[in-house]
Amino acid sequence: MTRSTWRTRIGFILAAVGSAVGIGNIWRFPWLTAENGGAAFLTVYLLLVVGVGVPGLIGEFVIGRRSNRNPVGAFDELAGRWFRPLGAVALLASTVILSFYSVVGGWILRYTAASTTGAYFTAPQEYFAAIDYGLGAVGFHVLFLAMTVAIVYLGVERGIEVSTTVMVPGIVLLFGALAVWASTLPGAGGGYDFYLSLDVAYLRENLFSVLPAAAGQALFTLSVGAGTMLTYSSYLGEDRSLAADGTLIAVLNTAIGVLAGLVIFPLLFSLGVSPGQGGPGALFVSLAGAFAELPYSRLVGVVFFGVVLLAALSSAISILEVLVAYLVDEHGLSRERATLGTGGLFLVTGSIAALSPAVFALLADTLANVVLTAGLLGFLLFDGWVLGRLAREEYARGAGPIARLFELPWYYAIAVVLPVFLAFTLVTGVGGILGIGISTRGAAAVAVLGVGGAILALRRHGVPG
Ligand code: PFF
Repeated sequence: MTRSTWRTRIGFILAAVGSAVGIGNIWRFPWLTAENGGAAFLTVYLLLVVGVGVPGLIGEFVIGRRSNRNPVGAFDELAGRWFRPLGAVALLASTVILSFYSVVGGWILRYTAASTTGAYFTAPQEYFAAIDYGLGAVGFHVLFLAMTVAIVYLGVERGIEVSTTVMVPGIVLLFGALAVWASTLPGAGGGYDFYLSLDVAYLRENLFSVLPAAAGQALFTLSVGAGTMLTYSSYLGEDRSLAADGTLIAVLNTAIGVLAGLVIFPLLFSLGVSPGQGGPGALFVSLAGAFAELPYSRLVGVVFFGVVLLAALSSAISILEVLVAYLVDEHGLSRERATLGTGGLFLVTGSIAALSPAVFALLADTLANVVLTAGLLGFLLFDGWVLGRLAREEYARGAGPIARLFELPWYYAIAVVLPVFLAFTLVTGVGGILGIGISTRGAAAVAVLGVGGAILALRRHGVPG
């Protein structure tokens, strides 16, 4: 059986942007921004997207295009079966993320439907509290999952490429329209101020709480660390500049994220709702409550949650595709069976998250950051010290003069600087989950020693270039 490939370059880009743009941009990002001081968070996050996210994304592309395999088979293909566990981390990360993602997808689906009748208008807080977990949440999660499964079932070209080619431009157009409309609301200016003016003093005082949150979000938003971008790039045929494509994807993702902020913050401020409160339910409670106050409230609700639904769906398919690609490549299953089988897995894991707020919070908050960080750390050490020269060769294939200029800086970043940084955030993150307070210095020492040891071990197994 021949392996799928994208039909067009733009098809690949839109699919990758579709993966990147999701509830991470619309639900997680405004929530974390509000919690971490507005523009202060935005600034650190943008720096980390450029400094960590983009090089990491290119690092995933290098492995995917070089091997034309799923995340587990890729390492096997390139360096032997001892390296398969690096891909297993990616499978785990995908499982963790889709398990809660599908629950949020279900919430969105429900709000889209509820907007037509205005069901949540009178008591938004109570409405969310009544539907967030429980059997109803399970039902809508299953519905969202079924939509995801249906697209992946149709395949890379007919399912994923076709659907994202429609969905992504749709997201941009609708959000653009909503942002223009939000700017006309009285009091919108307060939202722009909060969002766009940097409070340096806040940042100085809170750097160590802002940093890990912003780092995790930078990976989450670009879909890096779970093998989705590796898998998507494994369907690339011809030579294109991975660096140029990766940069374009990150720029589009960030632009759409900022656009979402330009809808959400003016809206909240114009209605006098403080964005700092509300936690994960913020989008649903404050925003949905805000809609009720507006003219054409039902229409606004349907359009808004409809766009969010498209964004969530185009991300969920990319996560499911990781596991499907694995089963098809490694175990010889047909795409149809692989899709239905993994759908069954998420039916169970997602339902658990939809029934238990504690499980949901663990997956969505801390665990997601940790598995993505661990996944990317493995990918980059592999690029840097197992592939080594071959990784640079792959980077250079199809690269233009500007991208070539960044070849060496990219290589040193992914081989040394970023692994130490990722190991540092990983240690702090795991410490947080286990409830062990680890000092900054202690975490830094563990990171440097751990990465150093890993490099020494990997160099012995390097693939002869
Ligand atoms: N990037 C997606 C979002 O921002 O919603 C979430 C995501 C997709 C994270 C795929 C990780 C992943 F592998």
